[in-house]
Amino acid sequence: MPEQLAESIVQLALRRGFFNPTAEIYRASAGFYDLGPLGALMKNNLINYWIDTFVKRETSFDVYLIDGSLILPYDALKASGHVDKFTDPMAECKKCGRAHRVDQLIEDVLGLKVEGKSIEELQEIVRKNGVSCPNCGGELAGFKEHHLMFKLSVGGGEETAFLRPETAQNIFLNFKRIAFSMRAKLPFAVAQVGKSFRNEISPRQSIIRLREFSQMEVEVFFSPLRADGPRGFEEVGDTVIRVLTREEQMRGNGEAVELRARDAVEEGIVPNRFLAYYLAREVRFFQSLGIPPENMRFRHLLPEETPHYSGGNFDLEVKFSFGWKEIVGNAYRRDYDLTVHSRHSGEDLSMDDNGVKVVPHVVEPSFGVERILYAILEYSYREGVREWPLLMLPRIVSPIKAVVLPLLDREALTSRAWEVYTALRMSRRPIYVVYDDRGSIGRRYARADEAGANLCITIDFQTLKDNTVTVRDRDNAQQVRVKIDELEEIIFNDMYRGLEGTGGG
Ligand code: ATP
Ligand code: GLY
Repeated sequence: MPEQLAESIVQLALRRGFFNPTAEIYRASAGFYDLGPLGALMKNNLINYWIDTFVKRETSFDVYLIDGSLILPYDALKASGHVDKFTDPMAECKKCGRAHRVDQLIEDVLGLKVEGKSIEELQEIVRKNGVSCPNCGGELAGFKEHHLMFKLSVGGGEETAFLRPETAQNIFLNFKRIAFSMRAKLPFAVAQVGKSFRNEISPRQSIIRLREFSQMEVEVFFSPLRADGPRGFEEVGDTVIRVLTREEQMRGNGEAVELRARDAVEEGIVPNRFLAYYLAREVRFFQSLGIPPENMRFRHLLPEETPHYSGGNFDLEVKFSFGWKEIVGNAYRRDYDLTVHSRHSGEDLSMDDNGVKVVPHVVEPSFGVERILYAILEYSYREGVREWPLLMLPRIVSPIKAVVLPLLDREALTSRAWEVYTALRMSRRPIYVVYDDRGSIGRRYARADEAGANLCITIDFQTLKDNTVTVRDRDNAQQVRVKIDELEEIIFNDMYRGLEGTGGG
């Protein structure tokens, strides 16, 4: 069953233009995917919704959005620790030569969480339990740490650089410039949306594990001398979050505990209010995107899994058809990044906090765009409701806001439909509308449903008499008759339906 849903999503994505392997007309490399016409629009809508929610509508502190270079110099990534520590354990099959990420293989085969263990420890687990190549059953050998960054040579080759492994680093590298140019005061935040690159050993599950993917990240800088947290904490502090604590994981229990964000801080489970603030906001954000709270949990990473820079990580995991998987990494990066960049560059990266010099501490929510798109597709996909698959996409991110359809292929109807369509396309509001007159009206409704189009607007004979059209709602297939003059307002308002009180939009 679960495999079936994942397969249905992939087939739908290919059929309707959400995503497909890069260079698929050749023998494409694994881990690279292109977003097609619908996927690209959906990604754009998701990013805009995220920026609206976490940047433009943030009232607890200022958030500055930047757009940094994808290529970063060796020195910067040496300082951040990525050159020395950004690796995954790898082994190769002696028989078929396939490379495997060993910690993941052990997790898949034995159900053990072993991330963070040394290469020797992993080798021993493989040996003791007779773990072999899942592809051909061959013996595993050549255990080593595999470096995840793509290395580049700049110019004539005299300078080494890397494709950035996370968007976060540009933010730390720009910290001083932003603080100065924006006359920023603590606490403040910097956000960035863009590509990151990791040479993953075994990319898989379509767009879940890629070698080139997109992140939406925020780094909140705050004074370590203050425990009061962001201004808006009171508003979200009562939000219930589900936390899979370290104790529960160590007991081998997969049960998350439910508690209010404010209690999570007071009980010492979450290290500070800035982090708890984001955990609460994420629950609301993803709820507004159709993911039920009971299918989300924050897993407190075990000490050996916690990245080198972090004072505590809480991965937002979502229940997919194939199991729980992280979609957002939340880290308390403390003063790690600013301290190491200050040391290596010689720049003073401290700030004034009411007359005291401090190196700001950082909380970072790191959202993975493609994993979120995939999660939305899984949670929207319905079979059995109609004779065709239906995508009940959150209306704010669905690529097509309305399809304009002439009831029949008659000149009087098609020309009126075309007029309605062009008027909507030219409207002042950012609504994406398409025109479809191919095939029967039933087939066209089916195509619209499968693409997740929010509304279908049908031009029929009555339109010619009284300038009204029918508007069909994707979710219940009900139609109402409205005036053409009202369409722009209706489509626009419909995009925001259900977002009131979610903290989104
Ligand atoms: P995983 O444990 O699954 O490899 P990660 O811990 O390496 O993920 P982070 O480093 O916390 O992930 O990255 C932040 C977010 O970026 C993740 O929550 C995920 O949504 C996204 N992300 C990370 N690696 C990939 C990838 N290879 N492909 C697609 N998205 C990714
Ligand atoms: N910036 C956090 C991460 O990508 O891991």
